[in-house]
Amino acid sequence: LDALLSENVSGRAVLVRSDLNVPLDGSTITDDGRVRASLPVIQKLAEAGVKVIVMAHLGRPKGEADPKYSLKPAADRLRELSGLNVVLADDVTGESAQKLAAELADGDVLILENVRFDARETSKDAGDRAALAEEMKALTGENGAYVDDAFGAVHRKHASVFDIAALLPSYQGDLVATEVQVLKKLTENTEHPFVVVLGGSKVSDKLAVIDNLIGKADKLLVGGGMAFTFLKAQGHAVGSSLLEEDQLQTVQGYLDRAASEGTEIVLPTDIVMASKFGADAESEVRASDDLEGGTFGASGLGLDVGPDTTAAFAQEITNAKTVFWNGPMGVFEIEAFAGGTRGVAQALADSAAFSVVGGGDSAAAVRALGFDESNFGHISTGGGASLEYLEGKELPGLTALEGN
Ligand code: 3PG
Repeated sequence: LDALLSENVSGRAVLVRSDLNVPLDGSTITDDGRVRASLPVIQKLAEAGVKVIVMAHLGRPKGEADPKYSLKPAADRLRELSGLNVVLADDVTGESAQKLAAELADGDVLILENVRFDARETSKDAGDRAALAEEMKALTGENGAYVDDAFGAVHRKHASVFDIAALLPSYQGDLVATEVQVLKKLTENTEHPFVVVLGGSKVSDKLAVIDNLIGKADKLLVGGGMAFTFLKAQGHAVGSSLLEEDQLQTVQGYLDRAASEGTEIVLPTDIVMASKFGADAESEVRASDDLEGGTFGASGLGLDVGPDTTAAFAQEITNAKTVFWNGPMGVFEIEAFAGGTRGVAQALADSAAFSVVGGGDSAAAVRALGFDESNFGHISTGGGASLEYLEGKELPGLTALEGN
């Protein structure tokens, strides 16, 4: 970004891809971390007299306008936090966007409506995406530029992330630069013990990262809904807990490989079993080898890791020099099932290790449970993006910038 700012940018229109994909309850933002993380670059540009045109997505609308996925709440929050003049277009590159872009004063901010309201944004057809990118470019008039600051979306080959970079002089935003620098420390010259804590509901989302971390991480601590597929692969009955039957063999393969490649996969030894999913559920702690033996029998649902597991995971984190955490240990939104996630977060907050919390859910958990973010090494704004980085995959948003 400094390269762009060292030029005479005042009066130029610059397209900025930001990640404003915030969690919403109706139209209320439940965690504004991504808006806050997007602010510095927008502010720097505005202060330099740039006409800032922000492109961002929210959720996964079906390629057409849908008020549920409007960027209005994010635009309002950005205006509140920045004190800048922020306007929101009614469309992506249509009449409203064109008119507002033409009227934009130096130092003001135009946010285009959710880029995924245009089906071409995510199209597999490069021609479709290029056509949309041309329309985006046209909004900058002569002498435009592009800044990618949406780390959370760099793993997407989308028009506003990938194709636009071929059409304009392109720069990396500070957020993307910082995130990449931090993640590099997890893959190059990593200090050991390197402990990875994985949770969340689905193993299938984490297969590639598990695959890539076996042999690199010293310990892989598995919690959350995905732990049940591991426990089942070890021969334990898991009641009615989340289970991905079709991944059992793959998971068994990981357990075998890990043993021979020096990575210890640590599974929960106890689980908080519940009568049902909900805040008014009854619950009891059961040993992992006897999950169906309690009051709820085979109908019980595992909704959190138990206290022994939490203590064991916390100890591993305390012993670590490097920690990466992605995915909650349980249904942290309900207090009765928040213990595991809170314990892991507390251990990380207390630890002197270099730590990265990756992913929307884990970052939101840390904030929702009242932790002070400054006690954590780095809280990444990107869930999928940080995982794909650790998988060793090429990230289209980053390659596109290298090209231009
Ligand atoms: C995220 O939430 O991880 C990013 O904003 C990307 O969103 P997506 O998974 O819908 O592309």
